[in-house]
Amino acid sequence: MTDQAKLMLGGKTAELEVRSGSVGPDVMDISSLYKRTGAFTYDPGFSSTASCESKITYIDGDEGILMHRGYPIEQLAERGDFLETCYLLLYGELPTAREKDDFVHRVTHHTMVHEQMSRFYSGFRRDAHPMAVMVGSVGALSAFYHDSTDIADPHQRMVASIRMIAKTPTLGAMAYKYHIGQPFVYPRNELSYAENFLHMCFAVPCEPYKINPVLARAMDRIFILHADHEQNASTSTVRLAGSSGANPFACIAAGIACLWGPAHGGANEAALNMLGEIGHKDRIPEFIARAKDKNDPFRLMGFGHRVYKNYDPRAKIMQQTCHEVLEELGIKDDPLLEVAMELEHIALNDDYFVEKKLYPNVDFYSGITLKALGFPTTMFTVLFAVARTVGWIAQWKEMIEDPQQRIGRPRQLYTGATHRDYVPIDQRG
Ligand code: SDX
Repeated sequence: MTDQAKLMLGGKTAELEVRSGSVGPDVMDISSLYKRTGAFTYDPGFSSTASCESKITYIDGDEGILMHRGYPIEQLAERGDFLETCYLLLYGELPTAREKDDFVHRVTHHTMVHEQMSRFYSGFRRDAHPMAVMVGSVGALSAFYHDSTDIADPHQRMVASIRMIAKTPTLGAMAYKYHIGQPFVYPRNELSYAENFLHMCFAVPCEPYKINPVLARAMDRIFILHADHEQNASTSTVRLAGSSGANPFACIAAGIACLWGPAHGGANEAALNMLGEIGHKDRIPEFIARAKDKNDPFRLMGFGHRVYKNYDPRAKIMQQTCHEVLEELGIKDDPLLEVAMELEHIALNDDYFVEKKLYPNVDFYSGITLKALGFPTTMFTVLFAVARTVGWIAQWKEMIEDPQQRIGRPRQLYTGATHRDYVPIDQRG
């Protein structure tokens, strides 16, 4: 017997079925509420709204838990690799050795993009933000790969998924090379996913590029940490775009556009710029005061989260990865890291941040790490988009394959003008 919730409104009573997941909060099914009461629910930031049923990622914000298909992020980041995590997100299970080899082979042999794409890039200004290039180039994939846009065909859905996971690193590296005026570097099939991305970004035709295994492992782990995160803003954008039947390339381009915002994936770039603006730990109190000032729109970038009201488990792993990268590169006393660690220490002991449960999130330490790896701040969100492509695709596939799937179409609370008749212009004013 499932539990029920009763809602009384205007003399009517609606009995709502309460459903339980395998873990986490119950939900009240309000899908027939309007039909039965004539009223909508109202939740503009979706803080209390489950938009779908999913089996992919579970987050417990109070406990600081993140699991993909039941596996804790700490174990996946420590013991797995990114393509294995991609397989897990897409298929629901960790691959056997043979399954993994087959999956890696399929992704590796889809990393090239249509040669015409390089002409597509030359339409951009060199100083275009790489995220603007990514929104355009990923959306343009649907103009090149018509043979995997029929979303009703499971085979084409999987081909489009593999193509997206394989090609976004190539497109991201091309956006970087175009930005700095260097020639594009083709993917290399003998390299791992992370090695290949570093090679496409940092190799130049004049000399061999030497892969640093410690940095490649750090890059791979950064991809794992950003792979998927439940129904965040960009994933919800992909699901809503996909609910109309739009092709997967266009849906992922919509997700990239949403991710770009500084409140979301753009926070890694904004966090590093903020640490640079603070400049020295002596100036931290000034910025803490600004973050607490209701009249100042300034927020501590890389802090706070809609779901995590405890430490973001990814931030802990990112901080450890940051120290590994700085040590490998012999970067001692990085002033930005010094400011970041002092800022974290002060904020975590300040009543305002403690009371509002504002902790560092995944974006707080990623910027320092990515800068040390050699990326400019404008590339930080591109890296986030490359990693999150698998999460968007897995969530899109889950939605498309749900037999209950319908187009998403929220309603509203209308507070505008009620009926009034047109007034000819000579009678106005
Ligand atoms: C990501 O959803 C996801 O899962 C996203 C993500 C993913 O993997 O997909 O985890 C990736 O986007 C991480 C978040 C990155 N964004 C930032 O670091 C930007 C800075 N953070 C804030 O903008 C904010 O914390 C959000 C956007 C992350 C969350 O915003 P909410 O949930 O809408 O919280 P809120 O704005 O309602 O804030 C609650 C209170 C407010 O004070 P009051 O109005 O209640 O007095 O906390 C304050 C806010 O002013 N607050 C902050 C703050 N974040 C919230 N005050 C200072 N600095 C901050 N960073």
